[in-house]
Formats: sequence, structure tokens, C-alpha cells
Amino acid sequence: MKNKSIITLDNVSRDNLNELFNLADKISENEIKYNNVLKNKVVASLFFEPSTRTRFSFESAVFKLGGNVISLADAKSSSASKGESLSDTVKTVSMYSDLIVMRHNKDGSALVADNSIDIPLINAGDGAHYHPTQTMLDLYTIYKEKKTINNLTIGVCGDLKFGRTVHTLVKMLSKHYNVNFVFISPDKLKIPDYVKKKYLTNMNYKETSNLEDNIKDLDVLYMTRVQKERFFSEDEYIKLKDKYILNNKSLKVAKEDLIIMHPLPRNNEIAKEIDNDKRAVYFKQVKYGLYIRMALISLIIGDL
Ligand code: NCD
Repeated sequence: MKNKSIITLDNVSRDNLNELFNLADKISENEIKYNNVLKNKVVASLFFEPSTRTRFSFESAVFKLGGNVISLADAKSSSASKGESLSDTVKTVSMYSDLIVMRHNKDGSALVADNSIDIPLINAGDGAHYHPTQTMLDLYTIYKEKKTINNLTIGVCGDLKFGRTVHTLVKMLSKHYNVNFVFISPDKLKIPDYVKKKYLTNMNYKETSNLEDNIKDLDVLYMTRVQKERFFSEDEYIKLKDKYILNNKSLKVAKEDLIIMHPLPRNNEIAKEIDNDKRAVYFKQVKYGLYIRMALISLIIGDL
């Protein structure tokens, strides 16, 4: 993956994923061995949209690999607020850095930015479109916790319309693995047609609005937050936001070896009471994310 940009994951093969998972395994076993891989490298982290986990995860990954970070955590403090185009901003930043990690609220912005620069760019989320590194870490979490990604029944629940982590996960699972999907959402937040047409035509999937009746069949349950920032009306958001609340009661009929994932941040869709249930892996998922991002950055610009 040397010098590759990661925008939509179209250019990431199953072999690339295996290489990434193997390196993440090695890094997690011996972090210190990799603490010089980014010597003299500068990574620019440009977050035009709010983030805690993703930005910190990338920045922590760079520091642990011995590299340096220059960071924009708030769009208001960049020249974008003076009317500079995205392409001019990233072109400028690319003169100071070896890799750009960018999050932006507009679908497609990562591709626009990537086309403007000569260094690699990692898309850390573009609007409701894609979130490739979240999917890499989601797949790695499934692989670590279930020991396989194939032949699983994977429930995806919540905001399937606006959730970029959902769109990217569905894309990669359907391209590279053999799984059954159960899509659980209110009618208004169903998986978009473009995702269905592009990725689900040959897949086994079911759409439902009922979590209770379907939870017993699942090997993986991927919960998501209703994406308030993508709604046009507050009233509509309020009507939908608490449709699913996973709690001890809903887990009674679930498999013993189910894993419950969430890209985080959560709102009310997972009750705190299940945080100590061994099936809840969403905080482990955060840690897996650090190793995946260390592995990814090492493969793109590292001296391995
Ligand atoms: C997700 C995102 O930003 O798309 N969070 C993350 O990166 N871990 C999910 C969300 O915000 O709901």
C-alpha cells in the first residue's frame, strides 16, 4: 500500500486487508519495535468536522510510530473561514507534510482533496459517504473476536441512511467476504438505494424495523447513532433518535458468543448497563483501531 491514498476503499483488496491485519497483530504484540517507523515524517490531521476518537487515534498512532503531527481540529480556525477553497488548503498543507488525514462534512470532498495534491491522503470520513479506516478497524475487530469474517450473520442497526460507517462496512463485507446481513432501521432511515444497487445485488440480506425478533439470529450486532447533524429537521430527528435501545432485556435471547460493536460516540442506543457484558466489544474496538491505524500509516509512508 506504499504511497496509496485511502478514499473509498475501491483500491484496497482482500490481500491488502490481510497484510494490514497481520501488521496490526505484530504491532500490538510489540509496539516498541515500531517506534521509529515514521522518523522525520510529518502527518497533517485536518478535521473540518467534530471528532474525538478518530483524530486522537490517528494522532496517537503517528506519535507511537515516532512521527510528528500538525493538526487542525476546528474548521473555524483554518483559512477555510476566510473563503479559501478546500483544494488550496490541502495543497498548502501538503507542502508541509508527508501524509494528510482529513475529515470533512461534504460527500466526495476526500476525492476532491486527493486530486489536488501529490502526497497520499486518508479519508477520515466525508459526509454521509465513506469512512474507510473505521471499516478497516471494524473488520479487524470481527476477525479478532470471531476468528473469522466469513459465514457470519451480521445485524446492522440504527441510522443506515446517513451512517457513513455503515455504508463503508457493507461495501467491504459484500466485496470481500461471504456474510448474511440483517438491516434493522426505522423506515425513514433505511439503507440507501445506491448502496443496495452497488453492493447488495448478490448478497443475502433482509430489511426489518424490528430488533427484538431478529437479535437471536445474529453473530455480530453493529449498533449506530442516529446522525443528528445530517437531518434537515430537528422534529424528525427527535421522532427517530430513541427507536432502538439495546439493554439487558433485549440481550436475553441473543447468542452467548454474539459481539456487540458500535463506532461510537453512542447516544441512547446502547444502555450503559450492558458495558460489562462480555459480548460488548465497542471499547475494545477503539483499541483495535489504534493498531489498525498504526499499521495503515506504516504501510503507506513508513520505513518498515
Ligand atoms: C463515526 C463517524 O464519525 O462517522 N464515529 C467515528 O468515527 N468513530 C460514527 C458517528 O459519528 O456516529
